[in-house]
Order: sequence, then C-alpha cells, then structure tokens
Amino acid sequence: MSSPALIEIEDAEVYRGDTRVFEGLSLRIEQGESTAILGPNGAGKSTLLRLLSREIYPVHREGSGVRILGRERWDVFALRRRLGLVSYELQMAYPREVRGLDVVLSGFFASAGLHEHEPPTGAQRGRAEAVLRELGVAHLGDKPIAEMSAGEQRRCLLGRALVHDPEALVLDEPTTSLDLKAAFELVDLLRRLVRHGKTLILVTHHVHEIPPEIERVVLLRRGRVFADGPKREALTDDNLSRLFDVPLSVVERDGFFQVFPRSS
Ligand SMILES: Nc1ncnc2c1ncn2[C@@H]1O[C@H](COP(=O)(O)OP(=O)(O)OP(=O)(O)O)[C@@H](O)[C@H]1O
Ligand SMILES: [Mg+2]
Repeated sequence: MSSPALIEIEDAEVYRGDTRVFEGLSLRIEQGESTAILGPNGAGKSTLLRLLSREIYPVHREGSGVRILGRERWDVFALRRRLGLVSYELQMAYPREVRGLDVVLSGFFASAGLHEHEPPTGAQRGRAEAVLRELGVAHLGDKPIAEMSAGEQRRCLLGRALVHDPEALVLDEPTTSLDLKAAFELVDLLRRLVRHGKTLILVTHHVHEIPPEIERVVLLRRGRVFADGPKREALTDDNLSRLFDVPLSVVERDGFFQVFPRSS
C-alpha cells in the first residue's frame, strides 16, 4: 500500500468566529512534498495551518474532511509527535521566565512551559539537550526567554518542534522579527532538515526565504487556492501581481526567488 498523504483536505468549509475563511477548499500534500504557502494578509494561511494542527475543524458534512497522515481523528499528543509546529503565536504564549531547555522539553507535553506534575524523564532531558546542541544553542538551556533575542527564542521553539523528531514541520512565518543573519541561519537550518528527509510546510511573506529545496508553492487568495504547482510555474510575475493586486516582478537566483515592484 502506498503511504497516505501528509495532508488531505477535501471540500472544507471553515469558520473563524463569524468569518467564513474557506469554502470548498481542497488541497493534498504528500509526505516528503515540502511546500511553501504564500498569500496576502487574511488569505487564510494561518487558518490552514491550524486545520493541520487540529486547533480548528471544518464544518462537518458529507464528502468533506481533513485527513492528516491518512487519519481523520487524532489525539493531539500523538499528532504533535508527527508534526512539529512553529509560530509566533506559540512563541508569545510562553511565560517569559521559561528557560531554553524547558521550551524544548515542553514539546513532550504539548504545552507552553512545564508543569510541576509532569517532570520530564532523564531520557527526555537528554534528548532536549541534544536538540539544543544540534541547533547550535546549547548555551541557551538555562536562559529565560525574557533574556533571549528573537532569533534565539525562535531556535528554542524550533527545538520544541523537533524534540520528537517529527516527519514534518509546520512553520507559520518562522522568520518574523529576525534580522537578516538570524533569518538566513534559520533558512539554512530548514534546508538541512529537508535534506535529512523532513517535510516542510512553510507559510511566509518573504519569498526570498523559501529554501531552494522546497519545490511546490501554493498561492492562497481569499480562502481559495489561486495557483498551485512547481515553484517556477507558481511564482510568476503575472501570478504574484494578481495575487497581491500590485504590479510585481520575480527574479530567480541560485534557487532562491525575490520579488520587486514593477512600474506599470
Ligand atoms: N480569531 C478569529 N476570529 C474571527 N476571525 C478571524 C480570527 N482569526 C482570523 N480571522 C479571519 O480569518 C481570515 C483568515 O485569517 P488568517 O489568520 O488565516 O490569515 P493569514 O493568511 O494567516 O493572514 P496573515 O498574512 O495576516 O497572517 C481573516 O479574514 C481573518 O480576519
Ligand atoms: Mg497568518
């Protein structure tokens, strides 16, 4: 039997509050098929990721559903072991006094911060320390979040997502508020992860930060898939200009893409 798709969304209708974000959304991403998702503010990108992390569910009806790794139903803890999540909201959810190692360890408990009644085991602690070392931030283990730079915080959060060695990482604008060096270091890290077999689902506004290893791009607009395909076919002047409603021009260099304004 072939392995199930990483994500299979069929004809989903999704609300947030009174806002209907998706109507008839269908999208399938295979395991190993790293994908970047782009679109204007409010297009539904973060909502899509929350469908994957089971923080939001579609309206229940016949012929519609969201399957992750072949399953409709998931225990959140089991799902966290398979999909690692990084988002700015998650980073903000952490109490400022939580230390680097505890941020990583919290991945084992699908929580923000640690709870007294769930002390980590020695093996979990060892694994968390190894992850911090792999990410080049072993020195942050004892440092409270409040005293870390945005880039350091983001690495610890990535560590939290990686502590279970999940097959896929779901990243919502992971370089927000990082400087160029920190952002490109994170991109380098992501590139290494893809090369080591992780699947990335990356939402970003920074086209130049899409790792060359990500070959598929989905453009979302007003809750609909506006374009979807190999990067070169999706990231065209015409598509991006229509997507963002402003004349744009795309340039490719060394496998990276960048977008410039175009005078019309
Ligand atoms: N908690 C909420 N309650 C009601 N509506 C919401 C809520 N969160 C988001 N929305 C609405 O859902 C739509 C999609 O929002 P979403 O956050 O998915 O957009 P996005 O593509 O991630 O945008 P951005 O690029 O700004 O992050 C928007 O119209 C937004 O106003
Ligand atoms: Mg968003």
